[in-house]
Parts: sequence; structure tokens; C-alpha cells
Amino acid sequence: MTLDLRALIRDVPDFPKPGVGFKDITPILASPQAFQETVDLLVAAAPDDIDVVCGMEARGFIFGAPVALALGASFVPVRKSGKLPRDTVETTYDLEYGTQTLAVHSDAIDEGDRVLIVDDVLATGGTVAATADLVRRLGGALVAVDVVMELAFLEPRALLARHGIDVVHTLV
Ligand code: PRP
Repeated sequence: MTLDLRALIRDVPDFPKPGVGFKDITPILASPQAFQETVDLLVAAAPDDIDVVCGMEARGFIFGAPVALALGASFVPVRKSGKLPRDTVETTYDLEYGTQTLAVHSDAIDEGDRVLIVDDVLATGGTVAATADLVRRLGGALVAVDVVMELAFLEPRALLARHGIDVVHTLV
């Protein structure tokens, strides 16, 4: 099978609000072959010796968890505020549509852990930058970002560079 990710990611205009184009990745998930190949490509792009994979709620969980298993790394869910039961660190940032607060358990990452961030879509880059902030506050070393689709017209790499995030791999 030749994986055509662009064909499998559906554009939904004006969702969740007018003027925003939503990237629907569910057609990838509907095909076990496409899902497996996508995970395999994310794994192939990952640096060596990753200790922790961070995936962001909700769609980052879908790709991050199987990547963590394949790498033999821990999976750390980065959740929206109010969802994690124990002590957390949190950060609030601007999203393409609105603001959001993300949280991670305070003991989720050990000092010096090599961390990979995995998500489905890189839009403004705000979600990745916020996650990088959480990783660093816990003492983790963010070594790379691995994402399925990049919306280059939103120039996420410029924002990420301002946050010192230079190793960014996107599949499409
Ligand atoms: C989407 C997407 C990324 C983020 C990208 O998540 O899954 O995590 O936005 O946008 P950014 O680069 O501009 O930060 P969303 O916050 O919509 O959450 P969801 O996965 O729960 O739908």
C-alpha cells in the first residue's frame, strides 16, 4: 500500500468556528494499514534513546501512545486542565481558536529524560510550545517533535524556533 496521507486527512471548513479549517484525521484511523504505516513513519523519524513520549489531548494520545510502545518509552498524557488527578504543572497559551490550559503530572518526567512530543497536527505551534514548556519545567530534555501534518502557512516553525525547538519532523 502506498500511503497517501494528504488524501486521508479531510479538510472540514469552518469548524469548530467560521474561518477555521479543521483537519480530520479519522480516515487514517479507519484504515488499520494506514494507521500502522503512519505510526511506523513517526517511529522511524524519532531520535534514538527516547525515554518519554508526550502526547497531547486528545488526538496526540492516538498517535503518541503507539509510538511510545514501539520505542519502548514511557507515554505521558498532556491533558487539558482539570483532568489529571494528582499534583500537576500547568500552562496557558493561545490556540488557533481561543485559549487553552494544558497540564501534566508533576512526577511524569524525571530530570534529564529525553522527551519526544507527538501530535496529529502542527498549526500555530502553540500546543507544542506549551508542552515543551511543561517538559522543561519538569527537567526533561526535549529532543524532537514528531507530527503527522504541518500547516506551514501558519508558520509554526517560527514560533517553535523562538521557543528553542528546532528538531521538528512532520510527515506531510
Ligand atoms: C489540535 C491538534 C493539536 C493542536 C494544534 O488540538 O490536535 O494538538 O490543535 O494547534 P496549534 O499548533 O495551533 O496549537 P485541539 O486543541 O483542537 O484538541 P483536540 O485534539 O482535543 O481536538
